[in-house]
Amino acid sequence: MTQSIYSPTGISRQFDRVREQSVYLCAPLEAEDYAVQPHPDVSPPKWHLGHSTWFFENFILADYATNYLRFDERLNWFFNSYYESQGPRVLRSHRGNMTRPGLSTILDYRAHVDHAMRELLEQEDPEVVRLTELGLHHEQQHQELLLTDIKYILGTNPLYPVYRRRTTPSPAVAAELTFLPVPAGRYAIGHTGQSFCWDNELSHHDVLLLDFAIGSRLITNGEYLRFMEDGGYERFEFWQMEGIAWARELEVKAPQYWYPSEDGWQQYTLDRGLVAVDPHLPVTHIGWYEADAYARWAGARLATEFEWEVACKIFSPDIPQRGNWVERESYHPTVATDPSDHQLLGHVWEWTNSAYLPYPRYPRPDGALGEYNGKFMINQMVLRGGSCATPLRHIRPTYRNFFQPDKRWQFTGIRLAKDV
Ligand code: AVJ
Ligand code: FE
Repeated sequence: MTQSIYSPTGISRQFDRVREQSVYLCAPLEAEDYAVQPHPDVSPPKWHLGHSTWFFENFILADYATNYLRFDERLNWFFNSYYESQGPRVLRSHRGNMTRPGLSTILDYRAHVDHAMRELLEQEDPEVVRLTELGLHHEQQHQELLLTDIKYILGTNPLYPVYRRRTTPSPAVAAELTFLPVPAGRYAIGHTGQSFCWDNELSHHDVLLLDFAIGSRLITNGEYLRFMEDGGYERFEFWQMEGIAWARELEVKAPQYWYPSEDGWQQYTLDRGLVAVDPHLPVTHIGWYEADAYARWAGARLATEFEWEVACKIFSPDIPQRGNWVERESYHPTVATDPSDHQLLGHVWEWTNSAYLPYPRYPRPDGALGEYNGKFMINQMVLRGGSCATPLRHIRPTYRNFFQPDKRWQFTGIRLAKDV
């Protein structure tokens, strides 16, 4: 959140691209899909379209555009997500009860805000450019949530509708899982330089690591199935107490979107609907509890977020432009056939064994931005690497995502680590 990498004209182009992408992601939806909230964590797609727009109206246009007229004063209340500083809001779990404003009004709201934003960007105010970049990263986070919320809406519907059909990938065999050693040492963690980062990636600081080794690729469905078949979900010795209590209470026996059939497990995918579980694909839609239990069963552990970041900088220093990001539109992780493809960036978010806490000297911002990340630094775990639902221009090796340990509706997965 320092200086913008975008020139004033660059930011206008990026603004248009990002804003269009949100609408494009919704194009396959039917009218009814836009409004439902089948789980308290799942926001209706039209709520995402409105809330990401509200962010620009409320945090930029209201403060920087002279004589800006709000599209509708009442929407301020409607589309505030969790900002106490911005006044009251609709209870999160009630978002799906709101059939109004309808989709066409929300699209008009988007057009109104986009028009005013384009005019404001012409003035080339550096503070506006900086906040717009922030607003675009916010919208990209919501694009990922939009896609995973759509997956929940379609993937828990017994018709299992395809979202966007893609050609079936030819069967592929996952490379052998090996462990890549990383020597003990003092390593730098966090973001440096002038480019955009979230506040939670600061301050840049050093950590001490002991010798460790990190899994050469993600854990596959086949490997996870062996854990399941070995009684993994019942054998308490592998679990944290909270985790096994969670699995027992909710009768969790498999990853989310896995459904039993006469021919074995099937899995809902956005691109092909319900398909047989492919043992070579990375396992996804598991919570931290399951990732942690699997790792213990496998005689290993999860990496800390610091080990993960160091390993990423060594083994995948560049963000793969052709990686499995949302732009590829596979909407699912793919098989690591090449032993040099470590899948550290893209495919699935990797649960780490690190609690989401502030780094030393974390600069929690004042005001609303302090509410953005800072107030969530308790009772959540860090995930790293981005997923097949993440926009390419959104991710970095220092990026910290965070969710509670039971959450499974994001594209989450498992990478092992070991002491050596
Ligand atoms: C970083 C994905 C946990 O889901 O609330 C969206 C992203 N922050 N709007 C979330 C976010 C503000 C955030 N996660
Ligand atoms: Fe938000």
